[in-house]
Amino acid sequence: MIGVFDSGYGGLTVLKELIKELPDYDYLYLGDNARAPYGNRSHETLKKFTEQGINYLFGQGCVLIITACNTVSSQVLREIQEEYLLVPNVKDRKILGVIKPIVEETVKITKNNRVGVVGTRSTINSKSYEVELHHLNPDIKVYSQACPLLVPLVEEDWIKKPETRMILKKYLRPIKSANVDTLILGCTHYPLLLKEFRQIMGKRITVPNPGKIVAHSLVDYLKRHPEIETLLTKGKKRTYTTTDDPTRFAAAASKFLGQKIEEVFKADISS
Ligand code: DGL
Repeated sequence: MIGVFDSGYGGLTVLKELIKELPDYDYLYLGDNARAPYGNRSHETLKKFTEQGINYLFGQGCVLIITACNTVSSQVLREIQEEYLLVPNVKDRKILGVIKPIVEETVKITKNNRVGVVGTRSTINSKSYEVELHHLNPDIKVYSQACPLLVPLVEEDWIKKPETRMILKKYLRPIKSANVDTLILGCTHYPLLLKEFRQIMGKRITVPNPGKIVAHSLVDYLKRHPEIETLLTKGKKRTYTTTDDPTRFAAAASKFLGQKIEEVFKADISS
């Protein structure tokens, strides 16, 4: 089983693309809605929440976990990956994030080595995208912008409102005038505004769907790691869990997944 972990609904934009690309596998989704959003949390808190989520998913039988949340991937993932290598019964299981695949793809896309990054305050402050981009290509100039208003606007379904477009334009103005040719959407919620991002940035700027990149990279990863692939069950089973109210999750989640979710289970991850 493949586990997908996120602070709430946003990781479903990644799961949506994983299911499209790799439909045969069983997936277990965990949204920590009771404690979302993660975007402004401290490092210590994020680490504790993520460890609890990961323990839950491994405990349910996941062999591979994707931390779909950019905030988690950028702040605590590396530390957690290292720690779990020392845990006897899960050391052969894998935890993957979203930053690396997105960065690897961006380096291939950019022609003028000028890249924009948007994300939560915490992801932008961590400079993870910048560090990883420079690791692969030190000549890349990175223009970052925290967009803290976008997650609540997406969750409130204000996607089509003129106010959201105005806010988006304001956030994107400095990045656009920096003449970037590629924009990284460094937050799980932003693919719901993909059309708006693309319209505002204009035709000459590539704005890839991050979920698609993560899915393509997982296809490649599984080809390179048959020892993991053979452990994954293939029954096309999808299980959705949340730490908050399952009924509310089911109602709101379909917008992120692009299809109706019939059944959601409550997960107790704090123990
Ligand atoms: N999932 C988070 C991310 O990708 C956005 C929502 C939150 O702040 O919890 O950074």
